[in-house]
Amino acid sequence: MSLRRLTLLGATGSIGASTLDVAARHSERFEITALAAHKNWQALRELCRRHRPRHVALLDERAAASLRQGLREDGIASEVLSGVEGVAAVAALPEVDTVLAAITGAAGLLPTLAAARSGKRVLLANKEALVMGGALFMEAVRSGGATLLPIDSEHNAIFQCLPAMQQYSAQQSGARAAGVRKIILTASGGPFRETPLAALREVTPEQACAHPVWKMGRKISIDSATMMNKGLEVIEAHWLFGMPAADIDVVIHPQSVIHSLVEYLDGSTLAQLGSPDMRTPIAQALAFPDRVDAGVTPLNFAALPPLTFAAPDHQRFPCLALAYQALEAGGCAALVLNAANEIAVEAFLNRRIAYPDIAAVCEAVLSATPAAAAPTTVEEAIAFDVATRRMAEKCVAMQAQRRGA
Ligand SMILES: NC(=O)c1ccc[n+]([C@@H]2O[C@H](COP(=O)([O-])OP(=O)(O)OC[C@H]3O[C@@H](n4cnc5c(N)ncnc54)[C@H](OP(=O)(O)O)[C@@H]3O)[C@@H](O)[C@H]2O)c1
Repeated sequence: MSLRRLTLLGATGSIGASTLDVAARHSERFEITALAAHKNWQALRELCRRHRPRHVALLDERAAASLRQGLREDGIASEVLSGVEGVAAVAALPEVDTVLAAITGAAGLLPTLAAARSGKRVLLANKEALVMGGALFMEAVRSGGATLLPIDSEHNAIFQCLPAMQQYSAQQSGARAAGVRKIILTASGGPFRETPLAALREVTPEQACAHPVWKMGRKISIDSATMMNKGLEVIEAHWLFGMPAADIDVVIHPQSVIHSLVEYLDGSTLAQLGSPDMRTPIAQALAFPDRVDAGVTPLNFAALPPLTFAAPDHQRFPCLALAYQALEAGGCAALVLNAANEIAVEAFLNRRIAYPDIAAVCEAVLSATPAAAAPTTVEEAIAFDVATRRMAEKCVAMQAQRRGA
């Protein structure tokens, strides 16, 4: 067993906390070499006190300066980097072999690409990297000689349900080559699964963030409520497992015990089950192919509620259909949808638009954007992302004006 040296991108977030918890349980296996975040320097300072990384990076320059000062006072010698380059640099450190990518949103693309290009084991939570530039990212994984392991619980479940020999090669030849007919992603349905449709206009960010099963960051919690998260996961599954949109299904499973399923040509369906705790997929990917204790309470089958399943209601969850539409359209459509959604979710969190306006903004931006080929460089992807955000901002302003916000 060799020591794995880890860079954790998004260290101060929810996935970051779960990762540090698992790693600390196995300090003989995992060394926290570098940590990165956006601007929460106080939280990062606390993490430095506990984990003593050799390097840290903050996107925000002023926050990085405060952290430098704080660490000096603490007598901690971690090198503090800053800016886009600083975050990308800790993702590509020569002494690091594993990078866990858990920065929220489009901001995660660049550092995650840097990790892939430098041939790391990339443990991917930041699905937006694949949604924005699927072909670009998978090419970076191939040419960089990186290994990609999914952290999203659904994709990690699928990974675990694929035959061992095919797990690595699924990303090269597609899960079809392993006899897979269908991938079935489970979804909890979020907090508004049964809320009367007419009441959705009045729901607050706090209600939308109160996920009935998973405890997550604010952005992904809103995406779970709208099921845009599931839509982005469909796109992620397409890239990770080489399956067409038509063979990726979504089923509502409110108990979140089954994390996803793989249907084979012979009629077998394999599922991965577990308590809804992100430490399980994180531990699986960190230690792969070994298994380690993640501190997760195992399922007690005798005490489980009945497991139920239902087809998603597209009237309630229009964002899911938009994601399928974007995947089918190809080119830049998924990138456009992701950018529009990020702006719309932020506007909802800031109470500028109502909850149903998130889907309305995404739909308006998607249909107003002319078809364009998929980005072939990261600069192209970012330029397209920035232009889409501008358009989405205008759309948000119009919705907000209508609402009188
Ligand atoms: N939470 C889950 O259960 C879950 C499950 C599956 C997948 N994911 C995915 O994992 C990612 C992280 O989710 P989360 O729930 O952990 O989010 P979160 O709690 O909001 O944490 C986000 C992290 O990203 C950092 N960050 C944000 N913008 C950044 C930027 N521009 N540059 C550098 N760092 C930045 C934040 O730093 P600051 O604290 O300094 O702002 C924080 O460390 C997302 O892509 C999400 O879709 C999450």
